[in-house]
Amino acid sequence: MSKVLYIKANPKTEDDSYTFKMSEAFLEEYKKANPKDEITTLDLYQEDIKPLTAEMIEELFTKEDSDVRRYVKEFASADKYIIAAPMWNLSIPAILKVYIDYLVVAGITFKYTEEGPAGLLKDKKVTYLVARGGKYSEGPAQDFEMGERYLRTILGFMGITDFSTVATELTNVLQGKELEKSVAASIEEAKKVAKEF
Ligand SMILES: Cc1cc2nc3c(=O)[nH]c(=O)nc-3n(C[C@H](O)[C@H](O)[C@H](O)COP(=O)(O)O)c2cc1C
Repeated sequence: MSKVLYIKANPKTEDDSYTFKMSEAFLEEYKKANPKDEITTLDLYQEDIKPLTAEMIEELFTKEDSDVRRYVKEFASADKYIIAAPMWNLSIPAILKVYIDYLVVAGITFKYTEEGPAGLLKDKKVTYLVARGGKYSEGPAQDFEMGERYLRTILGFMGITDFSTVATELTNVLQGKELEKSVAASIEEAKKVAKEF
């Protein structure tokens, strides 16, 4: 039995978000394949997660039983992560970055060694589901994509290197039937990845 953390970072409803259309289909398929798994949903907007203050940083880094550590404790205890976050300004929504700031804690998710920092989270995996208005997976804008690149890097820093992305692109460019077809194909791709996740 695995513990799965489903992290949602979009203020839109499930019906209005292409990201959530994919992540909900992913989750449904995942549940079918893994009915016994424990799935926790963390909706960052519902949580109303706040940027760290100076006092919170002090507690996060030093106080073992601090409430500020609840997110990192929950994160470290999960086996698998589903991250549903649209592309915003070439990257992730700020609220997801705020959440990540709660997670990178020496002694819990990484440690310092003589050879430099080393991730402490091992044998975990993540699927990142993202809708993007334009096309970044290939072509001239590829270098501008910083959301997937950032998530891969920061999760890798914590030891999580099994990372897959399911992206639906051109949601602001395609229209009508073309858009429907493209999103439907991405939803099918999400379901395929979920079966193996
Ligand atoms: C605040 C904001 C910033 C965005 N920035 C970009 C961007 O940099 N590049 C892009 O291709 N699309 C951008 N978009 C468009 C979204 O990526 C696109 O509409 C996508 O479908 C949003 O996902 P959703 O349908 O799950 O909300 C932005 C949208 C918003 C609301």
